[in-house]
Amino acid sequence: MSYAKRGEKMGGTIRINRVPATIALVLVTILIVYFVNFHQDERPALYGMLRNQNKVNLRKLLIGAIQAAQRGGVEILDVASTRDLNERSKGKTDEGANDPFTDADGRSHCVMKEGLHRIFPRVKIYSEEDKESCTNVNTFDLDPTVLHETAVLPNELVDIKDVTVWIDPLDATQEFTEKLYQYVTTMVCVAVNGKPIIGVIHSPFIGQTAWAWVDHSMSEYLDSIHPIDADTSKPLITVSRSHAGSVKELTRNVFGENSEILTAAGAGYKVLQVISNNATAYLHSTKIKKWDICAGDAILNALGGVMTNLNDELIDYGPHGSAVNDQGLLATLKNHNEYIEKLMEYRKSHTAAVRR
Ligand SMILES: *[C@@H]1O[C@H](CO)[C@@H](O)[C@H](O)[C@H]1NC(C)=O
Repeated sequence: MSYAKRGEKMGGTIRINRVPATIALVLVTILIVYFVNFHQDERPALYGMLRNQNKVNLRKLLIGAIQAAQRGGVEILDVASTRDLNERSKGKTDEGANDPFTDADGRSHCVMKEGLHRIFPRVKIYSEEDKESCTNVNTFDLDPTVLHETAVLPNELVDIKDVTVWIDPLDATQEFTEKLYQYVTTMVCVAVNGKPIIGVIHSPFIGQTAWAWVDHSMSEYLDSIHPIDADTSKPLITVSRSHAGSVKELTRNVFGENSEILTAAGAGYKVLQVISNNATAYLHSTKIKKWDICAGDAILNALGGVMTNLNDELIDYGPHGSAVNDQGLLATLKNHNEYIEKLMEYRKSHTAAVRR
């Protein structure tokens, strides 16, 4: 049978079936009218489903972020146990120090980034090691048991386009190669409209995870290291051991001989020192990448602390700016104004003196 003939036959069929088709149309119309008028409470579910296509659930992102940080930690422990780090250099940091890269950085990056990307394919995720290509990665499924039983966390939906995730697969790589393992952390941060909302700092060698969701809940570990009434009268500033010289001088000049300095490594570790009151402030005077600081910023926010650059501006973790924060950093739990005013005053007079 030719195509044209079949067409003719079908045309005939439609003509014959016009009456049943009309009946079907009337029935469908009645059904629609019936559902819209009498099943009012079913509409939100249906409409909601359509509307939520462009949303992501922050509770699920929190669970994924904790898992990613912990899975990354497992890779780091595994590489450390083989003692074959396969260390190479990524070049020099702005302070002129070697910027090392090991198999642990690469493996942690792949499991963290690919793992989150598989569950949240449309969320923008930035990792320190985005140049790495990943093959045969063990991914993971969401496991809410990473939250403690008393954590009360709502299903909060936000627009996917407003969300950015920042991953640091291995903070303090230099110290990792020196086996100064306490400084090593993996970090995940979730920002909404550029503001840090969820932060995870996992210390694989200590086996602890500090996480917080601003205005909602925090991990038991974070709760346990955070003293309620700490004495913060004497400045005790934590600074980086890799470029301690200049920032130590700055600390002494600004806060006086009476101030104490705690040299440490890793931005994640230093924020934990501020939170546990081992330091009253974390000061950084040069460039720092946003994946180094976003998680700590969120955790500080959750505890009522503040992180700004040295111009007293909040840091924007949205997708449009640079990944580099080039205006320094001051992180405190208390007395941020006092600290930043002294720093800004000093820098102003110092820059003026240099110009003259
Ligand atoms: C704070 O310092 C003490 C003493 O050095 C140390 O045992 C503790 O682990 C530090 N806290 C954190 C969160 O690293």
